[in-house]
Amino acid sequence: MQLHIFSLADEVLGHLADYFVQVARQAIAARGKFTVALSGGSSPKKLYELLASPAYRDQVNWQQVFFFFGDERYVPHTDAESNYRMARLTLLDPLLIAPEQVFAIDTILSPAEAAANYTQTIERFFGDESVQLDLVLLGLGDNSHTASLFPHTPVLHDTSVGAREVFLEDKQVYRITLTAPLLNQARAVAFLVYGPDKAAAVQRVLTEAPNIEEFPAQLIVPTTGELHWFLDESAASKLPK
Ligand code: 6PG
Repeated sequence: MQLHIFSLADEVLGHLADYFVQVARQAIAARGKFTVALSGGSSPKKLYELLASPAYRDQVNWQQVFFFFGDERYVPHTDAESNYRMARLTLLDPLLIAPEQVFAIDTILSPAEAAANYTQTIERFFGDESVQLDLVLLGLGDNSHTASLFPHTPVLHDTSVGAREVFLEDKQVYRITLTAPLLNQARAVAFLVYGPDKAAAVQRVLTEAPNIEEFPAQLIVPTTGELHWFLDESAASKLPK
Protein backbone atom coordinates (compact mmCIF):
# COMPACT_ATOMS: atom_id res chain seq x y z
CA MET A 1 0.00 0.00 0.00
CA GLN A 2 1.41 3.38 -0.99
CA LEU A 3 0.41 6.68 0.58
CA HIS A 4 0.71 9.78 -1.60
CA ILE A 5 0.18 12.90 0.52
CA PHE A 6 0.26 16.40 -0.96
CA SER A 7 -0.35 19.78 0.64
CA LEU A 8 -3.12 20.89 -1.73
CA ALA A 9 -6.08 19.00 -3.18
CA ASP A 10 -5.15 20.23 -6.67
CA GLU A 11 -1.75 18.53 -6.33
CA VAL A 12 -3.49 15.32 -5.27
CA LEU A 13 -5.71 15.49 -8.34
CA GLY A 14 -2.76 16.12 -10.66
CA HIS A 15 -0.76 13.18 -9.29
CA LEU A 16 -3.76 10.86 -9.46
CA ALA A 17 -4.47 12.00 -13.03
CA ASP A 18 -0.85 11.18 -13.90
CA TYR A 19 -1.24 7.75 -12.30
CA PHE A 20 -4.50 7.18 -14.20
CA VAL A 21 -2.72 7.95 -17.49
CA GLN A 22 0.20 5.68 -16.57
CA VAL A 23 -2.06 2.72 -15.74
CA ALA A 24 -4.22 3.31 -18.80
CA ARG A 25 -1.23 3.36 -21.14
CA GLN A 26 0.26 0.24 -19.56
CA ALA A 27 -3.04 -1.64 -19.89
CA ILE A 28 -3.61 -0.59 -23.50
CA ALA A 29 -0.04 -1.51 -24.43
CA ALA A 30 -0.30 -4.89 -22.70
CA ARG A 31 -3.89 -5.93 -23.46
CA GLY A 32 -5.27 -3.53 -26.04
CA LYS A 33 -7.77 -2.00 -23.64
CA PHE A 34 -8.08 -0.28 -20.26
CA THR A 35 -10.94 -1.10 -17.90
CA VAL A 36 -11.69 1.31 -15.08
CA ALA A 37 -14.37 1.46 -12.39
CA LEU A 38 -15.28 5.07 -11.65
CA SER A 39 -16.09 6.23 -8.14
CA GLY A 40 -18.99 8.53 -7.38
CA GLY A 41 -19.85 11.30 -4.99
CA SER A 42 -18.25 14.72 -5.19
CA SER A 43 -14.51 14.10 -4.71
CA PRO A 44 -13.81 12.68 -8.17
CA LYS A 45 -15.63 15.42 -10.11
CA LYS A 46 -12.50 17.58 -10.36
CA LEU A 47 -10.40 14.54 -11.29
CA TYR A 48 -12.73 13.70 -14.15
CA GLU A 49 -12.78 17.32 -15.33
CA LEU A 50 -8.98 17.35 -15.22
CA LEU A 51 -8.72 14.14 -17.25
CA ALA A 52 -11.06 15.64 -19.85
CA SER A 53 -9.12 18.93 -19.93
CA PRO A 54 -6.58 19.88 -22.62
CA ALA A 55 -3.81 19.07 -20.11
CA TYR A 56 -4.72 15.35 -20.12
CA ARG A 57 -7.30 14.55 -22.81
CA ASP A 58 -4.67 13.73 -25.44
CA GLN A 59 -2.59 11.53 -23.14
CA VAL A 60 -4.89 8.49 -23.36
CA ASN A 61 -6.36 6.66 -26.35
CA TRP A 62 -9.89 6.95 -24.95
CA GLN A 63 -11.36 4.75 -27.69
CA GLN A 64 -9.70 1.79 -25.93
CA VAL A 65 -11.04 2.65 -22.48
CA PHE A 66 -14.06 0.86 -20.99
CA PHE A 67 -15.85 2.48 -18.08
CA PHE A 68 -17.60 0.69 -15.24
CA PHE A 69 -18.98 2.06 -11.97
CA GLY A 70 -17.87 1.02 -8.50
CA ASP A 71 -21.31 1.85 -7.21
CA GLU A 72 -24.47 3.76 -8.01
CA ARG A 73 -27.24 5.46 -6.18
CA TYR A 74 -30.56 3.80 -6.99
CA VAL A 75 -31.98 6.81 -8.81
CA PRO A 76 -32.71 7.57 -12.48
CA HIS A 77 -29.64 8.40 -14.55
CA THR A 78 -31.07 11.91 -14.95
CA ASP A 79 -31.15 12.45 -11.19
CA ALA A 80 -28.65 14.92 -9.68
CA GLU A 81 -27.59 12.14 -7.29
CA SER A 82 -26.66 9.74 -10.11
CA ASN A 83 -22.98 8.79 -10.30
CA TYR A 84 -23.52 7.93 -13.96
CA ARG A 85 -24.87 11.45 -14.61
CA MET A 86 -21.92 13.02 -12.81
CA ALA A 87 -19.43 10.97 -14.84
CA ARG A 88 -21.31 11.77 -18.06
CA LEU A 89 -21.18 15.51 -17.42
CA THR A 90 -17.57 15.72 -16.20
CA LEU A 91 -15.76 13.04 -18.21
CA LEU A 92 -17.68 10.90 -20.69
CA ASP A 93 -19.46 13.60 -22.69
CA PRO A 94 -16.47 16.01 -22.82
CA LEU A 95 -14.32 13.12 -24.11
CA LEU A 96 -17.04 12.03 -26.58
CA ILE A 97 -16.92 8.48 -25.18
CA ALA A 98 -19.06 6.13 -27.26
CA PRO A 99 -22.01 4.51 -25.43
CA GLU A 100 -20.66 1.01 -26.12
CA GLN A 101 -17.61 1.86 -24.00
CA VAL A 102 -19.68 2.73 -20.93
CA PHE A 103 -21.33 0.13 -18.68
CA ALA A 104 -23.74 2.01 -16.44
CA ILE A 105 -25.62 0.34 -13.62
CA ASP A 106 -29.29 -0.01 -14.59
CA THR A 107 -31.52 1.69 -12.03
CA ILE A 108 -34.90 1.05 -13.62
CA LEU A 109 -35.31 -2.58 -12.61
CA SER A 110 -35.67 -3.63 -8.98
CA PRO A 111 -32.45 -3.21 -6.96
CA ALA A 112 -31.86 -6.96 -6.86
CA GLU A 113 -32.44 -7.28 -10.63
CA ALA A 114 -30.17 -4.28 -11.28
CA ALA A 115 -27.40 -5.87 -9.24
CA ALA A 116 -27.83 -9.25 -10.94
CA ASN A 117 -27.89 -7.60 -14.35
CA TYR A 118 -24.69 -5.69 -13.61
CA THR A 119 -22.96 -8.85 -12.48
CA GLN A 120 -23.95 -10.45 -15.81
CA THR A 121 -22.81 -7.37 -17.73
CA ILE A 122 -19.38 -7.56 -16.12
CA GLU A 123 -19.11 -11.34 -16.62
CA ARG A 124 -20.15 -10.98 -20.26
CA PHE A 125 -17.50 -8.30 -20.84
CA PHE A 126 -14.68 -10.35 -19.34
CA GLY A 127 -15.89 -13.60 -20.90
CA ASP A 128 -13.55 -16.50 -20.12
CA GLU A 129 -10.99 -14.18 -18.53
CA SER A 130 -11.15 -13.51 -14.79
CA VAL A 131 -12.97 -10.33 -13.81
CA GLN A 132 -9.92 -8.14 -13.29
CA LEU A 133 -10.38 -4.41 -13.71
CA ASP A 134 -7.21 -2.52 -14.54
CA LEU A 135 -8.05 0.31 -12.17
CA VAL A 136 -10.65 0.90 -9.48
CA LEU A 137 -11.12 4.46 -8.27
CA LEU A 138 -12.57 4.77 -4.78
CA GLY A 139 -13.58 7.51 -2.39
CA LEU A 140 -14.06 7.37 1.36
CA GLY A 141 -17.11 8.45 3.28
CA ASP A 142 -16.71 10.13 6.66
CA ASN A 143 -18.20 6.95 8.15
CA SER A 144 -15.40 4.89 6.51
CA HIS A 145 -17.53 3.43 3.72
CA THR A 146 -16.18 3.05 0.23
CA ALA A 147 -18.12 2.39 -2.96
CA SER A 148 -21.43 1.49 -1.32
CA LEU A 149 -19.89 -0.86 1.20
CA PHE A 150 -21.51 0.78 4.21
CA PRO A 151 -21.01 -0.06 7.89
CA HIS A 152 -23.13 -2.90 9.26
CA THR A 153 -24.56 -3.96 5.89
CA PRO A 154 -24.73 -7.61 4.74
CA VAL A 155 -22.75 -6.87 1.56
CA LEU A 156 -19.61 -6.53 3.70
CA HIS A 157 -19.63 -10.33 4.06
CA ASP A 158 -20.55 -11.10 0.47
CA THR A 159 -17.86 -13.35 -0.99
CA SER A 160 -19.20 -13.23 -4.54
CA VAL A 161 -17.43 -11.48 -7.41
CA GLY A 162 -20.17 -9.24 -8.67
CA ALA A 163 -22.58 -6.44 -7.88
CA ARG A 164 -25.06 -6.36 -5.01
CA GLU A 165 -27.89 -4.18 -3.85
CA VAL A 166 -27.47 -2.44 -0.50
CA PHE A 167 -30.35 -0.97 1.52
CA LEU A 168 -29.35 2.00 3.68
CA GLU A 169 -31.73 1.90 6.66
CA ASP A 170 -30.92 5.41 7.86
CA LYS A 171 -31.66 7.04 4.50
CA GLN A 172 -34.25 4.45 3.37
CA VAL A 173 -32.58 4.25 -0.05
CA TYR A 174 -30.96 1.55 -2.13
CA ARG A 175 -27.49 1.55 -3.65
CA ILE A 176 -25.83 -0.88 -6.02
CA THR A 177 -22.18 -1.71 -5.33
CA LEU A 178 -19.40 -3.89 -6.61
CA THR A 179 -18.45 -6.40 -3.95
CA ALA A 180 -15.14 -6.28 -2.10
CA PRO A 181 -13.92 -9.51 -3.76
CA LEU A 182 -14.48 -7.99 -7.21
CA LEU A 183 -12.78 -4.73 -6.23
CA ASN A 184 -9.86 -6.65 -4.70
CA GLN A 185 -9.24 -8.54 -7.97
CA ALA A 186 -8.26 -5.28 -9.65
CA ARG A 187 -4.75 -4.75 -10.94
CA ALA A 188 -4.72 -1.38 -9.19
CA VAL A 189 -6.92 0.43 -6.67
CA ALA A 190 -6.61 4.16 -5.98
CA PHE A 191 -8.40 6.00 -3.19
CA LEU A 192 -8.90 9.73 -3.67
CA VAL A 193 -9.58 11.47 -0.35
CA TYR A 194 -9.19 15.12 0.45
CA GLY A 195 -10.53 17.61 2.97
CA PRO A 196 -10.38 17.81 6.78
CA ASP A 197 -13.78 16.16 7.24
CA LYS A 198 -12.27 12.87 6.03
CA ALA A 199 -9.29 12.92 8.44
CA ALA A 200 -10.97 10.82 11.14
CA ALA A 201 -12.14 8.20 8.63
CA VAL A 202 -8.67 8.00 7.04
CA GLN A 203 -7.11 7.53 10.47
CA ARG A 204 -9.61 4.83 11.45
CA VAL A 205 -9.33 2.86 8.21
CA LEU A 206 -5.55 2.98 8.01
CA THR A 207 -4.55 2.66 11.67
CA GLU A 208 -7.36 1.12 13.75
CA ALA A 209 -7.40 -2.63 14.38
CA PRO A 210 -9.35 -4.53 11.68
CA ASN A 211 -13.08 -3.95 12.07
CA ILE A 212 -14.85 -4.11 8.73
CA GLU A 213 -18.28 -3.59 10.25
CA GLU A 214 -17.23 -0.17 11.49
CA PHE A 215 -14.57 0.63 8.87
CA PRO A 216 -15.65 -1.10 5.62
CA ALA A 217 -12.86 0.49 3.55
CA GLN A 218 -10.52 -1.88 5.42
CA LEU A 219 -12.00 -4.59 3.16
CA ILE A 220 -10.03 -3.15 0.24
CA VAL A 221 -6.86 -5.22 0.11
CA PRO A 222 -6.06 -6.08 -3.52
CA THR A 223 -5.23 -9.78 -3.96
CA THR A 224 -2.29 -9.11 -6.27
CA GLY A 225 -2.83 -5.54 -7.39
CA GLU A 226 -1.44 -2.21 -6.25
CA LEU A 227 -3.17 -0.14 -3.56
CA HIS A 228 -2.64 3.61 -3.53
CA TRP A 229 -4.09 6.33 -1.31
CA PHE A 230 -3.97 9.82 -2.80
CA LEU A 231 -4.57 12.27 0.07
CA ASP A 232 -4.18 15.91 0.80
CA GLU A 233 -2.53 16.93 4.08
CA SER A 234 -5.83 17.81 5.72
CA ALA A 235 -7.28 14.34 5.09
CA ALA A 236 -4.01 12.79 6.31
CA SER A 237 -3.75 15.11 9.34
CA LYS A 238 -4.75 12.46 11.93
CA LEU A 239 -2.33 9.83 10.69
CA PRO A 240 0.68 9.12 12.92
CA LYS A 241 3.63 11.26 11.86
C1 6PG B 1 -20.89 7.42 -3.75
C2 6PG B 1 -19.46 6.95 -3.71
C3 6PG B 1 -19.00 6.92 -2.31
C4 6PG B 1 -18.11 8.11 -2.17
C5 6PG B 1 -17.93 8.50 -0.72
C6 6PG B 1 -17.23 9.85 -0.64
O1 6PG B 1 -21.66 6.93 -4.58
O2 6PG B 1 -21.18 8.35 -2.96
O3 6PG B 1 -19.16 5.96 -4.47
O4 6PG B 1 -18.34 5.76 -1.91
O5 6PG B 1 -16.84 7.83 -2.76
O6 6PG B 1 -19.22 8.59 -0.15
O7 6PG B 1 -18.08 10.80 -1.24
P1 6PG B 1 -17.62 12.32 -1.44
O8 6PG B 1 -16.48 12.30 -2.40
O9 6PG B 1 -18.84 13.00 -1.99
O10 6PG B 1 -17.20 12.82 -0.08
